[in-house]
Amino acid sequence: MQAKDGDQVDNVSLIFAIDSKPGALQDALSVFKDTGIDLEHIESRPSKTNPKQYEFYVQTKESTNKIRQVADALIGKGAISAHILDTNPDTDNASWFPRKIRELDLFADRVLDAGRDLQSDHPGFTDANYRKRRAYFADIAINYRHGEPIPRIDYTEDEIKTWGKIFGQLTKLYPTHACAEFNQVFPLLIENCNYREDTVPQLEDISRFLHDSTGFRLRPVAGLLSSRDFLAGLAFRVFHSTQYIRHSSMPLYTPEPDLCHEILGHVPLFANKSFAEFSQEIGLASLGASDEDILRLATVFWFTVEFGLCRQNGELKAYGAGLLSSFGELEYCLTDKPEVRPFDPETTCVQEYPVTEYQPVYFVADSFTSAKQKVREFARKMKKPFTARYNPYTECIELLDNNTQLKELAISIQSDMASLVSALDKRT
Ligand SMILES: [Fe+2]
Repeated sequence: MQAKDGDQVDNVSLIFAIDSKPGALQDALSVFKDTGIDLEHIESRPSKTNPKQYEFYVQTKESTNKIRQVADALIGKGAISAHILDTNPDTDNASWFPRKIRELDLFADRVLDAGRDLQSDHPGFTDANYRKRRAYFADIAINYRHGEPIPRIDYTEDEIKTWGKIFGQLTKLYPTHACAEFNQVFPLLIENCNYREDTVPQLEDISRFLHDSTGFRLRPVAGLLSSRDFLAGLAFRVFHSTQYIRHSSMPLYTPEPDLCHEILGHVPLFANKSFAEFSQEIGLASLGASDEDILRLATVFWFTVEFGLCRQNGELKAYGAGLLSSFGELEYCLTDKPEVRPFDPETTCVQEYPVTEYQPVYFVADSFTSAKQKVREFARKMKKPFTARYNPYTECIELLDNNTQLKELAISIQSDMASLVSALDKRT
């Protein structure tokens, strides 16, 4: 299909900002009307850089040339900024990362350890049946493709007993130790996803429930992914989840994440809107980030999504999955033994931590919303040639190019300068 001006027609997205004064939106929309452009989608949000401005995101099927004219006309009508979003992967000079949700399939066999070669100190190392079982789960995950239902598992009696023991212990502590958001969701999982002591819940049911709640989805993973690949999944609201259960000889210990950790520790909060946004923010920040920044983000993830505490009504509560899936550490983390510090990505990201013992230091978030803002600010300071955003309608990552980012930064500086001048005026 060809556009009237000879340029190829494509899905084009445009983001523009206007002052929140009467008539400004009408003026902006008249540009689209005057140029005869049909909008396929439009959404608005308060500006991140100026509370007196609004940003509008529009999608249309038009030639890029025509949209450039629209962008210029919007500025002529008083818009603060108007930028075309780069949606063409060929123009992306950054290192590769998934741009479409389907591309997460490429991670399937990039696991560091697929459970086939257990370490000699693993509780299942000498158990041939367990190793066979782990290979079965690894095959399912490696062959899984986006969009397919997650295969249902016929869990063995041994596995159900292990799950039941963990479920029974942890659910005693949740009412007093877990954060309010976790306790709000948990009964819904009992109701909708068969969370109970004598049945192991199925990933497919949980994934559907999460998708209906916040757009999050699960996909099975054979073993540990690199931090880069794992965090990239979060940008698409996809959580890579193991499907196997720890060895029955040590039900309260596992040297690696297993289904119990994933669906008791992680899943409940992915059904919470603010937490889902917070997790996705870390994922988006990771796209195209340097190895050093991936390490920093993985550390932020560790001290929040895995081992985070929050303060609610003056009391500390747990929201990290590593805590909510460990009976011993869930009790320990709220005692006066560990050190607690306020969550600040700048300092949290360099904190060292042990992986095989209880954490000596925890970081406390005021709320998921404030944690998200802090991570967003943290990400803005990372050296990347673009800012990534997720389009839930196309399930693709869109990039705001260098110029857009610089212009947004300029607006932010202008706004800060204006506040400074105004403050100085008041003092003199
Ligand atoms: Fe985890």
